[in-house]
Amino acid sequence: MKIVRSPHELKTILKEHQGEIGFVPTMGALHRGHLSLIERARKENALCVVSIFVNPTQFLEGEDLDKYPKKFEADEKICSIAGVDILFYPQAEDMYEEDEIKICSPNVRGYVLEGHVRPGHFDGVLTVVMKLFNIVTPTRAYFGKKDAQQFLLIMQMVKNFFMDVEVIALETMRESDGLAMSSRNVYLNDAERLEALKIGKSLKCATNLVIQKVFEAERIDKEMREVLSPLEVEYISIVSRSFVPQEKVEIGNSIILVAARLGATRLIDNIWI
Ligand code: PAF
Repeated sequence: MKIVRSPHELKTILKEHQGEIGFVPTMGALHRGHLSLIERARKENALCVVSIFVNPTQFLEGEDLDKYPKKFEADEKICSIAGVDILFYPQAEDMYEEDEIKICSPNVRGYVLEGHVRPGHFDGVLTVVMKLFNIVTPTRAYFGKKDAQQFLLIMQMVKNFFMDVEVIALETMRESDGLAMSSRNVYLNDAERLEALKIGKSLKCATNLVIQKVFEAERIDKEMREVLSPLEVEYISIVSRSFVPQEKVEIGNSIILVAARLGATRLIDNIWI
């Protein structure tokens, strides 16, 4: 596995490569969720590139940029064992200049839900993903369904800017007790970790209601809140696969999302119906 820090060096290496490139952009602190993306990227492409970059522009003032888990040595081993060909590991100064031109700003769907709680977050995500796509020129890029809103906005950016990359979302990986895997789970203490299970349980409750043909968003929201109580719920939302709020779940076209706070930690999760 080759580790490359410079965007220009990576561009030069990749220019010489002929076959398809599978790309998994990450912020490191890799877990099984990332591994499933890497596995798929390897399977479907001749070359697998993973990036590890804790992108400062997607963190708001006062968020966890400084304490975001950084585990490069462990991540490097994981990537090497997983068969990654190139690990791209730039630093902020390699990716950004002062006073940059800004072109990546989401539409209204980037300012609801996560974008409402974290205004400007998706500007940072889209900007860095566009930079990464321009550097790596992937044939296919792989993301987790857990960040559903991020995925939708990236798909929209790719379409709107006529970018030549197929973006693919893979299932959320869960711990055996149902907690969605996230690099931020390490922030939870034991009591919070236990409480956090209510998030997955609330989504299970929503799924069971849908199985019983209960489709009304209001009823699903109410029952989910009962399961989540007494957690601090930031939002529960039922949206279409293009992120338009729905009053009724539509099988094959709905995502039920939840965000909750456990102490200082925010967790998000969702289920695609
Ligand atoms: O999902 C993430 O890990 C990040 O938002 C991403 C896509 C790597 C951009 O920094």
